[in-house]
Amino acid sequence: MSKQIAFSHLLVSSALLLFSTHIAAQELSPYVDAHGNISNPKNVEDTWSHLGAYFVQDAKDHQAFDAHQVYIQKQFLDFFRKTGKFKDGTVLVKRVFGTTNKSFTTGKGYFATNPKVTFVMVKDSKNTFKNNKAWGEGWGWALFTNESPMKSTTTNWKGSGFNNCYGCHLPVKDNDWVYTQGDQQTNLGK
Ligand code: HEC
Repeated sequence: MSKQIAFSHLLVSSALLLFSTHIAAQELSPYVDAHGNISNPKNVEDTWSHLGAYFVQDAKDHQAFDAHQVYIQKQFLDFFRKTGKFKDGTVLVKRVFGTTNKSFTTGKGYFATNPKVTFVMVKDSKNTFKNNKAWGEGWGWALFTNESPMKSTTTNWKGSGFNNCYGCHLPVKDNDWVYTQGDQQTNLGK
């Protein structure tokens, strides 16, 4: 094979590879690009199903709570209800808010105030993005902050702090890495 032909072969095959990852990513989810970068879905509160909520006490200030709201798209919720599995392309969004409290006619009420961070998980049982460390164990993992609301700060799902997704989700490894305790209202809770 001449050098020129070999080179064009290489070009065509790398173009094909890029193209096929591109197709795979597009088929997987509109929230994942060809490199496995995950985006922060918009209008989740308006158009997605509310999966569950958690109220987590602040480690230092026991009077303070964070409110965690978890969302999923209806078609993926329906699939889970039927099969007990998360379909490829399922996106789970967890929005975290600070809270404040006030005396209401109902009693002392806590309600969400300032948005803090957003966690996103995308299901991909085929592990398409093997070379992207934000993906592992059949999920893509992403963290968005107020400073970086559009671009995920997760370069490695086994990172540190909030980016140690792996360490904190290890207790629910056998539940496909997902905490479903707070999802009673959708019959997902265990
Ligand atoms: C400090 C521990 C901790 C870290 C770090 C962490 N998680 Fe979680 N995550 C949890 C716990 C516990 C829950 C369920 C209860 C709650 O929200 O407090 C949860 C829930 C979630 C949910 C809602 C669906 C579910 O599993 O219940 C998503 C989505 C999520 N995490 C994504 C991520 C991603 C992505 C990362 C890394 C960027 C990450 N988490 C890092 C502990 C953690």
